[in-house]
Amino acid sequence: MHSVPVAGIRQLLVSGGSTMAAAEVARQMSEGARNLSLSGHVGFDSMPDQLVNKSVCQGFCFNILCVGETGLGKSTLMDTLFNTRFEGDPAAHNQPGVHIKSNNYELQESNVRLKLSIVNSVGFGDQINKEESYKSIVEFIDAQFEAYLQEELKIKRTLHNYHDSRIHVCLYFIAPTGHSLKSLDLVTMKKLDSKVNIIPIIAKADSISKNELQKFKIKIMSELVSNGVQIYQFPTDDETVAEINGTMNAHLPFAVVGSTEEIKIGNKMMKARQYPWGTVQVENESHCDFVKLREMLIRVNMEDLREQTHTRHYELYRRCKLEEMGFKDTDPDNKPFSLQETYEAKRNEFLGELQKKEEEMRQMFVMRVKEKESELKEAEKELHDKFDRLKKLHQDEKKKLEDKKKSLDDEINAFKQRKTAAELLQSQAQQSGSQQTLKREKERKNSGFL
Ligand code: GTP
Ligand code: MG
Repeated sequence: MHSVPVAGIRQLLVSGGSTMAAAEVARQMSEGARNLSLSGHVGFDSMPDQLVNKSVCQGFCFNILCVGETGLGKSTLMDTLFNTRFEGDPAAHNQPGVHIKSNNYELQESNVRLKLSIVNSVGFGDQINKEESYKSIVEFIDAQFEAYLQEELKIKRTLHNYHDSRIHVCLYFIAPTGHSLKSLDLVTMKKLDSKVNIIPIIAKADSISKNELQKFKIKIMSELVSNGVQIYQFPTDDETVAEINGTMNAHLPFAVVGSTEEIKIGNKMMKARQYPWGTVQVENESHCDFVKLREMLIRVNMEDLREQTHTRHYELYRRCKLEEMGFKDTDPDNKPFSLQETYEAKRNEFLGELQKKEEEMRQMFVMRVKEKESELKEAEKELHDKFDRLKKLHQDEKKKLEDKKKSLDDEINAFKQRKTAAELLQSQAQQSGSQQTLKREKERKNSGFL
């Protein structure tokens, strides 16, 4: 039988779908299917070639996140790694917070196309208060996972031509202090290690002496271990790359130098940094680990980084997210729980909650109505009392006024009586007065006649 070497396949597979096919092949092989010998050539030994052709046709995508304080040489290193010039302007250093800038590029080498995204943490480490520096980076990584998950959950999925923006590797730039990691570095790497493959690198390694560099590397690794920070380990399970990856794991963190400047050394043009005291050759392994980084990142482990992103980091995000949404694989009795059952359970739970909320709102409404009713009754009673008080007051006042009127009427009557009596007396007096006058007149007349 023509067997397909599993390790070989892993090197060739590039897309999520192809990864599934490899898993299926490996599963069937490990299940110990019946071995039959073929009596002639059939042609399925071209399977790896078919996969290669398909992958080459589709092209590849790779997303790199560069995290590190401003001016540590992130852009220069990217330019050096891909032998091109990506972006021109250095980032502003007076940002109030860290923000993420993503640039997409299409590169081609031979007939292989690569969609490359370089994501930068602009303003990282520039703030006085660095507590929240990691947040926007974590949010960005999660947002890419979320976008992929949403695409996966769609009814009409287009994952085969979906632009995968999930971060495959985070190059964490460590300042060449020669001392130890800064707390900002530790906190950020700790927050990122379950979400992305971290490869720590010592930036601008030409500014640190050889002896100091070795001590610095050991110090960094021991600090990472003691703080429980998980960095990406180059895989050693594939025998074709186990040896080189094993050796390279011991070299972490890589101490790199970046430069796009080319200098003639001997009769060759080489990328180097020139100083008054000498020249640092970027691609000289006795000068720095740039070549090691390039080999590990691009030539040997690019596919593993993509695979780890999908099977480890994205899977963790997806699991947490689906559990958060209430999906689970088994019920409390550890029996398989289908999506339909989960949906039904969730729906019932939701309806129950809705009913409970409705009942609560109804009770609340009745209580509020009762409260309002008793408040109104209280107000009505108060109004009645007030009305009664005012009525009584009014009656008392009325009575008082009537009494007063009566006494005034009595006074008027008495006055009128007195007035009539006085008038009578006066007329009587006048009458008697005039009679006397007449009498005296008569008497005078009589006396005159005599
Ligand atoms: P921001 O985008 O502003 O955060 O900066 P950056 O991290 O992208 O740094 P950039 O690549 O712009 O480099 C900043 C300065 O450091 C430039 O003057 C580079 O020439 C210099 N530089 C870059 N790499 C190295 C290196 O390996 N060693 C030394 N000594 N200098 C370097
Ligand atoms: Mg830059």
